[in-house]
Amino acid sequence: MTVEARAIESLLAFWSDSGVEALYGETAVDRTVTAAPWATASRPAPAAAAPTPRREAPAATPALEAPAAETLALDEARRAAAAAADLEALRAAIAAFDGCALKAGARQAVFSRGRADAPLLIIGEAPGADEDAQGAPFVGRAGQLLDRMLAAAGLTDKVFITNTVFWRPPGNRTPTPAEQALCAPFLERAIRLVKPRVLLLVGGASAKSMLKRSEGILSLRGRWFEWKSEDGALELPALPTLHPSFLLRQPAAKRKSWEDLLILAERLDRPHRPE
Ligand code: URA
Repeated sequence: MTVEARAIESLLAFWSDSGVEALYGETAVDRTVTAAPWATASRPAPAAAAPTPRREAPAATPALEAPAAETLALDEARRAAAAAADLEALRAAIAAFDGCALKAGARQAVFSRGRADAPLLIIGEAPGADEDAQGAPFVGRAGQLLDRMLAAAGLTDKVFITNTVFWRPPGNRTPTPAEQALCAPFLERAIRLVKPRVLLLVGGASAKSMLKRSEGILSLRGRWFEWKSEDGALELPALPTLHPSFLLRQPAAKRKSWEDLLILAERLDRPHRPE
């Protein structure tokens, strides 16, 4: 193999490790424009064809507007989540739910792993490639780091782990607030079924969505917040922390995460009265 080929191979491996799975051209393409593709400046227009008589389009049934479709999907998510009597029923309800567009690009739904009665419920952002392949959250490199940190803090057997969305976003992009909102009824049902004492919100996309805050994770991490259910009837202490993927890129930040885990372990050690 030539030196250039080896260099290209190693660059591709680096991108693949970093989650880059799709390559795009250097010029952005506006895919919302519905004009014929040759109607751009860079391509010559085809020879003009003889004008064809214009035909009126048949009256179509009005398509469902996007917001209306989203409202229907959210209603369906709420109904399906509320009907799930236990975590296995909830897992099945998530797998059967077709209202989240992420499902179309994913291999399978990724719901949870861990103890069904865990005192600590960990909420990540979204499944990645390894999770999509294996059907369980945090099983890739970031998950292995998370497991090592939980073990070091003595928390391994105390956790239930899930995400803000249950299907892998394409190219590992951050899930949108709309996608998180559609999955939220299932996540809230999981919280009600597990009945944890504390939530750990891993990464900015999880912390912002669960706490409805706009600050970045570096400002939110290491501080206690109150998570509230949609109806306001349930409240739980929630601690945002850095995402292990970030720690893989910035190992010096592990010290901050360790501080967060100690704060968390101390709270879980406090005596409490079961409800
Ligand atoms: N990152 C997450 O936020 N969740 C996973 O399940 C895996 C990686």
